[in-house]
Amino acid sequence: MVKVPERNLAFELARVTETAAMAAARWQGRGDKEAADQAAVDAMRLILSSLDIDGTIAIGEGEKDNAPMLFNGESVGTGQGEQWDVAVDPVDGTTLTASGIPGAIAVIALAERGSMYSPGSLVYMDKIAVGPESAGLIDLDAPIRHNLEQVAKARGKDLNDLTAIILNRPRNQRYIDEVRQAGARIRLIDDGDVAGAIATTESHSGIDILLGVGGSPEAVITAAALSCVGGEIQCQLWARDDAEREYAAANDHDLDSVLSIRDLVDSDRVLFAATGVTGGEFLDGVEFVRDGAITHSVMMRRKTGSTRHMTSRHDFTKLRSLSALILD
Ligand code: FBP
Repeated sequence: MVKVPERNLAFELARVTETAAMAAARWQGRGDKEAADQAAVDAMRLILSSLDIDGTIAIGEGEKDNAPMLFNGESVGTGQGEQWDVAVDPVDGTTLTASGIPGAIAVIALAERGSMYSPGSLVYMDKIAVGPESAGLIDLDAPIRHNLEQVAKARGKDLNDLTAIILNRPRNQRYIDEVRQAGARIRLIDDGDVAGAIATTESHSGIDILLGVGGSPEAVITAAALSCVGGEIQCQLWARDDAEREYAAANDHDLDSVLSIRDLVDSDRVLFAATGVTGGEFLDGVEFVRDGAITHSVMMRRKTGSTRHMTSRHDFTKLRSLSALILD
């Protein structure tokens, strides 16, 4: 008996990120990151409400900087259908969007209910992430040079041809120094380490490894995406001060343990979608055309290991209900 393939929700997730990306992209370069984020949140919430899922937001965003957010614990979807944990980042790279700098994306991931890691109020994690070729070869506890050598071997490159993507923050200076000492190349980014990590899965991106401390919610979303395609991320919670260290101790968060991709998303049923807001290595940004827009998205599904790239043309005259949201 041939089994009929089940419906792939990733297609519907791409509608969510497309709409969020278009809404945020209206704010590109206008210097107002809160407005860009709010527009994307509203758009995401609207399209999510039409999805036949019983979803709960497990990873929302905003705790770090009081940004508008889809709240942790918020129910999304029609309530009909399967139970899912939902991780969203309506705009990963709000400052990039507000400044019109490449690298901002809208992202969403779904995994079976109860399978996504909750970092609580600990907003940062130390991360190392690679694409499928280098999976199984990295170790967050090992010296940077060792990790770079492993990735170079896996990718069939000389170490000095390797490119590490790193968030440009003082806290990541150690990584920057060690990658330079090892002789590898660096792509410093101002924001957007989800796109940076996923870029390691695309050979044309020229990015081989992501290193450094970035957001915890972003780590879980990244884990969802990398789990679909066989990549790897390892993380460690990173406390900023004594108050966070005390919070970690009181809430059973072990600051010393290395979290694997399975610790972050423990499910074989994971779906991921992202749409470019401002163009970058990973996805092209939203292009506005006469009465519409063109978007570029990626959809991933762990069960089948499929990755699909989709370019969509949106007609605002026909999509009147959406165009109010996007054009305002
Ligand atoms: P925003 O979406 O809030 O702009 O955050 C983007 C981001 O750069 C993430 O990609 C990254 O994980 C995190 O912020 C880093 O945090 P911080 O900017 O506080 O260093």
